[in-house]
Amino acid sequence: MRPIRRFASLSMLTGLCAAQLLHAATAGSENDWWKRAVIYEIYPRSFGDANGDGIGDLNGITQHLDYLENLGVDAIWITPFYPSPQVDFGYDISNYEGIDPQFGTMADFDRLVSEAGKHNIRVICDLVLNHTSDQHPWFIESKSSKTNPKTDWYIWHDGKPGGSPPNSPPNNWQSIFGHSAWQYEQPRDQYYYHAFYKQQPDLNWRNDAVKKAMFNSVRFWMKKGVAGFRLDAITSLFEDLALKDEPYLAGMNAYGERNISRLYSDNLPEVHQVLRELRSVTDEFPGRVLIGEAYLPNVGELAKMYGRNNDELQLPMDAQLGFTNKLSVPEFRTKLEDAETKIHGNVPLFVFENHDNPRSIDRYGDGKHNGEIARLLATLLLAPRDAALIYYGEELGMVNNDPKRKEDVQDPIGRIGWPKEKGRDGERTPMQWNADTDAGFSTARKPWVAVGPDYKTVNVSAEQRRPNSLFNYYKTLIHLRKSNPQLRDGDFAAVDKSNSSVLSFIRKTTDGKAVLVALNFTDAPQTVSYDLGKQAKLILASYSGASGNTDLAHLTLPAYGSYIGQIEP
Ligand code: BGC
Repeated sequence: MRPIRRFASLSMLTGLCAAQLLHAATAGSENDWWKRAVIYEIYPRSFGDANGDGIGDLNGITQHLDYLENLGVDAIWITPFYPSPQVDFGYDISNYEGIDPQFGTMADFDRLVSEAGKHNIRVICDLVLNHTSDQHPWFIESKSSKTNPKTDWYIWHDGKPGGSPPNSPPNNWQSIFGHSAWQYEQPRDQYYYHAFYKQQPDLNWRNDAVKKAMFNSVRFWMKKGVAGFRLDAITSLFEDLALKDEPYLAGMNAYGERNISRLYSDNLPEVHQVLRELRSVTDEFPGRVLIGEAYLPNVGELAKMYGRNNDELQLPMDAQLGFTNKLSVPEFRTKLEDAETKIHGNVPLFVFENHDNPRSIDRYGDGKHNGEIARLLATLLLAPRDAALIYYGEELGMVNNDPKRKEDVQDPIGRIGWPKEKGRDGERTPMQWNADTDAGFSTARKPWVAVGPDYKTVNVSAEQRRPNSLFNYYKTLIHLRKSNPQLRDGDFAAVDKSNSSVLSFIRKTTDGKAVLVALNFTDAPQTVSYDLGKQAKLILASYSGASGNTDLAHLTLPAYGSYIGQIEP
């Protein structure tokens, strides 16, 4: 098991195409498509390389739409593909309304949206509001003097007078990626603030001109037919105006510095006003969704992201559940119940993997039952009442392939923090399509990052052929949550609540019909007895040999087994 990285907010330390539009206009509830959606995250560098240069691209996504439709995904979220110096692999944007040539052209993007629509797949873009690249024309202008028209577009402050050395950074704030969060610029004789790399200066969200410019870019993409946005690092938008020093916490970080809280630079109340304004912009276009990257300390803070009047994010990510990183029944039960009862009836968005954290098997696997545990996690993701996020390759059981030598590291944090922090290359390896060279990802001699060594057996082509593969388990679950009325529309209630080995819940519709989901969190068989009815009819089991009709007084689950059955009164 590897520790969680979760750097993005470190609270741990403290276009619809024409066809889709027509559909949306004719069916009101279509605007709520996201409520039960399966959203598939694509890291474009690593999904499909259509032009053979070793880096994935937009055409490489278009080529694989059949695969995504067959798996059953409703939408893809593509991480940034805009023009960028690529210091943070696209999260440092130098033009919010273009396409980086390494990913393709605007025509490729338009074709992707329109082809995806034909496969009933919506396209969600990543929106980085917190910062731009230091090569963005706004920043180049802003840093040039104290009097230029963009002077207040970023967070500029004088150094600390009388500090030692004189003119030292304004305070002790640390970048999430290590070292001081302040960078000195000679032309202004001032420091600018960067929550992430120094090449990612933070925008000043107290400046209305910034807001206006960004909201116009939001409209630009919505007019192109995108179905919504995943808001990057959204809790980082504001910093305390008084620049108070942050309190230090126990221990040291991977960069050799004292851990520090982010009380004054993360999750400030002003974020909510921006979210409300942004929501009113996206509401100009029906059926669009706002997803938030939000690593929050508790469910109360998560609930606030939906807005008091449901006027902020539709789907803030619930990082409470998937990043528990410990197979503990009481913890998962509490978090699932919290998501049902403490977010005011809104839809939770569950997620176990993304491009910033080690793959789930690296965090939850025990080395001996990894296949069974991967199915357990799939069931936890897809059987509750939620919208679900899948990270490319999660459905295959792809694992981390971390660099072995510092000189091989691509992600700058892996070089700054080596060897404690190896960076995020390991969870961003090429999608494993088949057993050919480069796993069928690219025809280049060398892909931008090494392919996982298990690609000969863990790949789409092999798993599609194997009826009991993890891929087929995901696919069946996804299709079930669309076709079984209880898994689709039912509410959620935990049952057998004192059991600390088996997590059980039912999904029940208003007609009284219910489905039982039971998950064995241990490495030994467990027998459970329910007082829910006489028997259950098997819908899906993660193990072989499950009986068609199960006596509810006596359900035996093998190690890490998942069972789903229709309760018969
Ligand atoms: C993204 C990261 C990125 C950071 C800075 C995060 O939340 O997911 O990949 O490095 O924001 O933009």
